[in-house]
Amino acid sequence: MGKPWKTIILAGGTGSRLYPLTHSVNKHLLPIYDKPMIYYPLSIMMLGGMRDFIIISSPHDLPQLEKLLGNGHKWGINFTYRAQEKPGGIAECFEIAEKDIKGSNVALILGDNIFHGTNLPERISEATKNDGATIFGYEVADPSAFGVVTMDADNRPIALEEKPKNSKSNLAVPGLYFYDDNVLDIAKALTPSTRGELEITDVNMAYLKQDKLHVEQLSRGTAWLDGGSHASLFEAGQFIKVVEERTGLKIACPEEIALRMGYISRAEFMMLIDEGLDTEYQHYLRRIAKEVS
Ligand code: G1P
Repeated sequence: MGKPWKTIILAGGTGSRLYPLTHSVNKHLLPIYDKPMIYYPLSIMMLGGMRDFIIISSPHDLPQLEKLLGNGHKWGINFTYRAQEKPGGIAECFEIAEKDIKGSNVALILGDNIFHGTNLPERISEATKNDGATIFGYEVADPSAFGVVTMDADNRPIALEEKPKNSKSNLAVPGLYFYDDNVLDIAKALTPSTRGELEITDVNMAYLKQDKLHVEQLSRGTAWLDGGSHASLFEAGQFIKVVEERTGLKIACPEEIALRMGYISRAEFMMLIDEGLDTEYQHYLRRIAKEVS
């Protein structure tokens, strides 16, 4: 698939499960330990080779996200901001970004999904080579809060369900999806589900019906977390803290990733270091500057 890739980061929704934290602050700006939540999905996609991003959120929250991230050029990437007037479901994002994604393949990552694991960047770049659509399956203890995929004996997908009450399959579908340029037409043909939303599971179902859905399993060595509830937000923060303190390395530091991926030069990286700021984050950037030549 020679077409360029655009990545949508969906940072909308009301965050009602996190009330009152989200009463005045967008969920994706809340901290996962030492960074805003949106840094994590952004970073994993940067590591997978993505550089062109469309950030979708409510008109109220977009200015705050833009204040944090800017146009992306300082990290050698590009951000376009698009407004979702009312939360109408994940699959609405394709129409919102219609003029940005026309003629492109589209990756979509949900702004509260956090992935950590050694081979994930490779899995992402492999997913961009498939035809049709690629989603992932991840074994969880309780799949009832997620999209769920059922595989046959030959490891081919046979069914998809959104938040099933009693599923035989334990394979949840994380919020990370890869689509060819037909996704816009598929999304436009959807009708809202019983909860009144355009469901991403229905998009995946359309690809499954056309026999164009690839399901790649994420190994148990991969961490998939989310920050959607008070408990999961707290646990994700603890996870990041434990790994960062043990290794002395930061997870999801966009400046470091931009440098290591060659999106910016060392000279450009040096300009991101604010010598006047005596923060732990700046100390880390200074250390990375010394380590990466
Ligand atoms: C959404 C999707 C679901 C997916 C999940 C991943 O759920 O609808 O299929 O498994 O994200 O985080 P929601 O955030 O709407 O509960």
